[in-house]
Amino acid sequence: MRDLLLRACRGEPVPRPPVWLMRQAGRYLPEYRRIRERTTFLDLCKTPELAAEVTAQPVDILGVDAAIVFADILLVLEAMGAELRFESGDGPRFPSPVRSAADVERLRRPDVETDLGYVLSTIRLARRAVGSRVPVIGFAGSPWTVAAYLVEGAASSAFPHLLAWSYADPSGLRKLLDRIAEVTLDYLAAQVDAGAEALQIFDTWGGLLGAERWDALARPSLERILEGLPRGVPRIVYQRDGAHLLESLGRLPVEVVSVDWRVSLRDARRRLGRAKTLQGNLDPCALLAPIETVRRETERVLADGAGGPHVVNLGHGILPQTPVENARAFVAVAQGRGRD
Ligand code: CP3
Repeated sequence: MRDLLLRACRGEPVPRPPVWLMRQAGRYLPEYRRIRERTTFLDLCKTPELAAEVTAQPVDILGVDAAIVFADILLVLEAMGAELRFESGDGPRFPSPVRSAADVERLRRPDVETDLGYVLSTIRLARRAVGSRVPVIGFAGSPWTVAAYLVEGAASSAFPHLLAWSYADPSGLRKLLDRIAEVTLDYLAAQVDAGAEALQIFDTWGGLLGAERWDALARPSLERILEGLPRGVPRIVYQRDGAHLLESLGRLPVEVVSVDWRVSLRDARRRLGRAKTLQGNLDPCALLAPIETVRRETERVLADGAGGPHVVNLGHGILPQTPVENARAFVAVAQGRGRD
């Protein structure tokens, strides 16, 4: 059923919960790795024919109920004039990090149709490839999460430069978050024009902040984006390690709250009520277990989510070492085809 995801996001009755996986197009798929042998990650994102092919792979191979456009949350910063590099095995790098209000002035406001037009083209091509079967999800990072990489200059687990700036000069950092929010709103609205039917915002690093600081620092720019989006397109907000922020997330203008495995879906439901759809939340490491364990853990997630509208997903991105048959078992159990 093509509209399963959209209906579940809106809290409408569905015959079964839809399922997709964060990072479902990626290195665990041999078909993805074959394409990546010929091209860098950034060039793949910027070649709409290939990016759309990769977007469609998990629909063809796993039978998921949604496609998510193949791109990255950091592309928006490159469009704003920051140099972005992906070095193999190293993750993203910004050789000139932004760490002061003066640095923020170096960033420009791009024309998203021109500077991120390749993502919009990917969405149009992906709609043509899978649009009769499943909806295409567009996405962006939250301003806080996108800024985290630009300020730090690289991936981190503690983001000390970001947090130091947040204490020393919160209004300078807020300027950066507002700039990113402006561009992100343009970008997501353009994704909807190009054919995205639901939008996910990744607040992967929101959990670095306590609830009061998240509300004061990270929330306003995120809320501005959510409020400005075109009506009628379901909004999903994802947070990693955000159990302490759940009530605050529940007050955002979103249809879906996506949680990781540290909070059970039963507890999340108790705290958020039935007005929000929940998305998640299998631990991606559970997909590395023997296949019977994968099936059992997926059944547990289904049972935990059954108290209200639910989109079955992982609690974070699928890991590159995941066996494809385990990802298929997760999807099959979620779709009530447990022994496929
Ligand atoms: O979900 C999908 O299949 C769509 C594509 C997608 C990618 N990145 C492709 C990607 C999405 C939705 C993202 C989001 C993203 N990117 C996030 C938020 C979600 C999360 O994981 O917390 C973040 C923080 C990033 C930034 C980023 N991109 C990092 C830190 C890395 C390096 C770590 C890693 O996983 O390799 C990337 C690279 C990246 N983005 C890859 C893919 C498929 C791997 C690139 C490769 O092929 O080598």
